[in-house]
Amino acid sequence: MIDQVFAGLEIRDLRVVFDGFVAVDGVDLTVPRGDIRFLIGPNGAGKTTIVDAVTGLAKATGSVLFGEQQLLGKDVHTIARMGVGRTFQTATVFDELSVLQNLDIAAGAGRGPLTLLRRRSGVPPRVEQALETIGLTEALHRPAGILAHGQKQWLEIGMLLVQDAKLLLLDEPVAGMSADERDTTGELLGVIAQDRTVVIVEHDMDFLRRYARTVTVLHAGAVLSEGSVAQVQADPRVQEVYLGTASAGEHTSAGEHTSAGEHADDDVRSA
Ligand SMILES: Nc1ncnc2c1ncn2[C@@H]1O[C@H](COP(=O)(O)OP(=O)(O)OP(=O)(O)O)[C@@H](O)[C@H]1O
Ligand SMILES: [Mg+2]
Repeated sequence: MIDQVFAGLEIRDLRVVFDGFVAVDGVDLTVPRGDIRFLIGPNGAGKTTIVDAVTGLAKATGSVLFGEQQLLGKDVHTIARMGVGRTFQTATVFDELSVLQNLDIAAGAGRGPLTLLRRRSGVPPRVEQALETIGLTEALHRPAGILAHGQKQWLEIGMLLVQDAKLLLLDEPVAGMSADERDTTGELLGVIAQDRTVVIVEHDMDFLRRYARTVTVLHAGAVLSEGSVAQVQADPRVQEVYLGTASAGEHTSAGEHTSAGEHADDDVRSA
């Protein structure tokens, strides 16, 4: 059981097929506990689908071990209870509820909706600690809907912390954030990873260079390259994909697999 407290992630031969389209094509991915692993790759590379498969949202074959526990085949709620949490590309907080109420709901703790909606006098220690970690202690009674964009993302991370997630998968958390918010998020990652494992999908190369411990580059549903930031940056295959010179016609069935698209600032070579 000790492994569950602070476990790593071991993905083997992961495959996700949507109506005959192979979105994830035999991915092996080992993320040691305590790592901050960045998943990068052009639009449509399969990054979000891997997160979906790990968290039970997408049907997959292969193996996904979190510590000693097999996640594949379990439903979303079971996987969450096993200590695996994720955020989405767009924040999913309850806008009308306060920061504290959002955290309360995430913490669950068997309270009924009426109790949850009543303003609490005492804040449970777990929630208090999460508030401090995500820097929202001062904002605890503020409706989530009026939070700054960055604060909403941090609240979502806080919701995973109160759920006691030990493996966090974050899908493009710094997209749309200001420079200051990015810095704060980077520091938050370091704190979170002290006793958790973090997998983060991110297009922002400056952010990656500053905060990644290791990087896996995906392309067309497969692992293209893996290693330190310097290693993947120096990999000619990665440069090819990011320059949009990868062999034409390869894996283009969804029509958005060129790398010169939405994320043109992704050139991994620029330092
Ligand atoms: N539910 C679905 N049904 C059919 N195809 C899907 C589904 N979800 C994803 N896909 C396809 O699978 C491929 C991988 O998508 P995915 O969202 O994992 O890419 P991504 O790497 O996260 O891209 P982005 O950087 O744009 O977020 C894409 O071609 C996408 O169109
Ligand atoms: Mg995605």
